[in-house]
Amino acid sequence: MEKQSQTAVTNETTPTIDPQKLESFLGKVVNDFGAAFSAPLSYIGDKLGLYKAMAFAGPLTPEELAHKTDTDARYVREWLINQAASGYVEYSPHNKKYSLPDEHAIALTVEDSPYYVVGGFQVINAMNKADERIMQGFRTGEGMLWGEHHHSLFQGTERFFKPSYLGNLLQTWLPAVEGAVEKLKNGAKVADVGAGHGISTTIMAKAFPNSRFYGFDNHQPSIERANHNVQQDGLGERVSFEVASAQKFPGTGYDLITYFDCLHDMGDPVGSLQQAYQALAPNGDLMVIEPMAGRTTEENFNPVGRVYSGASVLCCTPNAIASGPYALGTVATDDALAEVAMKAGFSSFTRVAETPFNRVFHGRK
Ligand SMILES: C[S@@+](CC[C@H](N)C(=O)[O-])C[C@H]1O[C@@H](n2cnc3c(N)ncnc32)[C@H](O)[C@@H]1O
Repeated sequence: MEKQSQTAVTNETTPTIDPQKLESFLGKVVNDFGAAFSAPLSYIGDKLGLYKAMAFAGPLTPEELAHKTDTDARYVREWLINQAASGYVEYSPHNKKYSLPDEHAIALTVEDSPYYVVGGFQVINAMNKADERIMQGFRTGEGMLWGEHHHSLFQGTERFFKPSYLGNLLQTWLPAVEGAVEKLKNGAKVADVGAGHGISTTIMAKAFPNSRFYGFDNHQPSIERANHNVQQDGLGERVSFEVASAQKFPGTGYDLITYFDCLHDMGDPVGSLQQAYQALAPNGDLMVIEPMAGRTTEENFNPVGRVYSGASVLCCTPNAIASGPYALGTVATDDALAEVAMKAGFSSFTRVAETPFNRVFHGRK
């Protein structure tokens, strides 16, 4: 049942308006209007190959870009104006041509680069499609499951997270979990919980040929995609993916259990970590990757906190609300996460590494 709004507008005091503050706020809002309009345009540029056609290609007219990408020049002309106003492409009034700086081309087109960010636009656009459902959630308190989002979210998440995993997982995250690399080299049994499309699982499996990997997720289409990826990579004998909830994934005696950007999505994170606790071998390690967040609420009032708290409202918190009693939120503090791990039985849960976008935690039995 929808809750009726109880808020009444009162005019008991006359506000004192600072015109400069108002002006400057409007300037900020116009900037945000532009960013909001540019998000679908950047997604279009990615999907239609406009960025790829401009990458390392020198200056192009709208007509040349349209020809190269088999698109309509009238649309492309307007798109380029938006992109130049956004600072994504540069324009030369002398020859009326647009160019994509090489540095921007790396971030927008080079898929294996750790700087590749364009998948983020796909995630943002997919999440924005849920606005009506989320508004309903504000009124009713209902949640929305991960699997109920537009299908583009799942591919977008794979594309958005993969560069960071490629750039950090083997280089700094696993080495920060004391003893984990040694175990993986010697041959370990690993569970990747909430594995999604299995990007993290596959990166670890390729690096550690003596180890065996089991990926679990309760979203069937993601598991199908993960199994497809793994067959393509020829890793099928050492890596398998199975539909399973984080509270009931099968197997015991794991040397390492990992959670990549998913513990905060779970409605029963304590139940899931209890399952991990009992499924770990006596000396097994827990590794949890979570989005970067402040140790206090106000430490999230920055660009990264703005992104993650946005995702929290549109996707992560609604999934947790829909699936259990506990909603950590995407910007859960270290203390809130540690409390969950302690409730599940772990004796310690410590931040051992970080990037501007991620925190890495090591849990011990
Ligand atoms: C943001 S995605 C991250 C996916 C993947 N770990 C990665 O880093 O690419 C969160 C994942 O957690 C999964 N998930 C959420 N709650 C779950 C639960 N209770 N049991 C199993 N998987 C869950 C979702 O289906 C989704 O694939």
